[in-house]
Amino acid sequence: MSSLSQPFCPPVTLAPASVAPMYQQVYGWFRAAILNRDLRPGQRLPSTRALAGELRISRITVLNAFEQLQAEGYLETALGSGTFVSKSIPDEMLSPYSGRAEKLTVKKSRSRSSEVDGRSRNHKPPWNTILGAFRVSHPSVEDFPVNVWTRLLTKHSRSSSRQLMGYGDAMGYHPFRKAITEYLRTTRGVRCDLSQVMVVNGSQQALTIAAQALLSHTKDIWLEEPGYPGARRAFGVAKMNLIPVPVDRQGLDVEKGIRLCSKAKAAYITPSHQYPLGMAMTARRRMMLLDWASRKGSWIIEDDYDSEYRFGSRPLASLQGMDTNGRVIYIGTFSKVLFPAIRLGYMVIPHDLISTFVEVRDAVDIFSSTLYQSVLTEFINEGYFLRHIRNMRILYLKRRRCLEEALRKELGSNCEIEGDDAGMHLVLMLPKEKNDVVVARRAAELGISATPLSACFLESPPKMGLILGYGGADEAQIIAGVKKLGIAIRSS
Ligand SMILES: Cc1ncc(COP(=O)(O)O)c(C=O)c1O
Repeated sequence: MSSLSQPFCPPVTLAPASVAPMYQQVYGWFRAAILNRDLRPGQRLPSTRALAGELRISRITVLNAFEQLQAEGYLETALGSGTFVSKSIPDEMLSPYSGRAEKLTVKKSRSRSSEVDGRSRNHKPPWNTILGAFRVSHPSVEDFPVNVWTRLLTKHSRSSSRQLMGYGDAMGYHPFRKAITEYLRTTRGVRCDLSQVMVVNGSQQALTIAAQALLSHTKDIWLEEPGYPGARRAFGVAKMNLIPVPVDRQGLDVEKGIRLCSKAKAAYITPSHQYPLGMAMTARRRMMLLDWASRKGSWIIEDDYDSEYRFGSRPLASLQGMDTNGRVIYIGTFSKVLFPAIRLGYMVIPHDLISTFVEVRDAVDIFSSTLYQSVLTEFINEGYFLRHIRNMRILYLKRRRCLEEALRKELGSNCEIEGDDAGMHLVLMLPKEKNDVVVARRAAELGISATPLSACFLESPPKMGLILGYGGADEAQIIAGVKKLGIAIRSS
């Protein structure tokens, strides 16, 4: 027990002048913090002795409060390891993600609220709290070459110079930008020179910076419908006017976009692998979009988030590579090809916009961790990066096949799968009478992450389906997960 370090002491507020007894104040503070999820289920609390010391009250007072919280099921103790927030507090007691939320999220998914993806303001929806099968966007971290990474990280940390430890450049670490430029030109057909490449903390930050930088050009932005909720959040927070433009089997319907809002000066798209439905945008539609952008002086934000993984054919070249008028802001990320917590991505910015983007970046967080940039530079330059992508392409293809086969076995003729043979997720369509949020919640209770497709719709009546990621689950987990998914679907 003594080897366990003391957890942080929560910011308990007490009112010594209050008529309420002190033990009741301690009890009330913890109860409220647990119900609001300021303290999360399973979180270890400081010992009563440490807490009493910190709050300068008697230990008996804290013991009395904890006893009551324990008796009411808010706290539990584990012999030898301390006191924890109970893991089994009924959902209805917890504030925002209560039983009521099911109806709310479906309804909200038709509004332009920033909570449309099924999130409440402060809490993750249950399917986003599970890291196993079928969490979307999670690569196989078990297959990441940790030894190589650790060796490089140690080497670069040891040799940390002023350049690595001081303030860096808003555009990024020069050798890293050079490596990215070469990679994008060679493998993605991106037309760029090094001066256009900005390193960012993942594509989510790229979207936020783009939103801020484009505000002086436009308030109206086309978004794919259904589309990526993260983009909606970035543009929604910037108070842009979100115009949902439907996608069909050819990708974004450009003609509809023009009819809906021809004055829009920006469009966000995922042309290589539409998120979530998984089709590629046809060459004709790409040309139409580029033509619209150059005629109107509009900007296209191309999110190329997982194009390294195409299984049946060669990777598609980027839309940016077809652009001869400098209208495309190209975004990519290392989250899928390496791991999400690396928080590194990049943007290729049209020359005319570079200074505005740098201004915004400077205001946001100045620059990305130079240490990680330098480690990743060597990882790329020494060939580990491409080798890892090659290995993962083989692995994810196997996992995808395994998932498709397991779904067909489990669901028989009810199995309808959407999406090209690419990326790290597919969409399982559900019959109309099923509510995908209800199914996803049931699946989460069984320990399975399934993201409801309806959360990706901004306005139009949503289609019902489940977005299933297969990158982060091995074949045994996929097979067991599909069985549970079958139960969740049948029982919802
Ligand atoms: C379409 C799309 N764009 C961007 C991202 C965000 O990636 P990052 O981790 O680089 O912020 C994701 C993550 O799932 C995604 O699906």
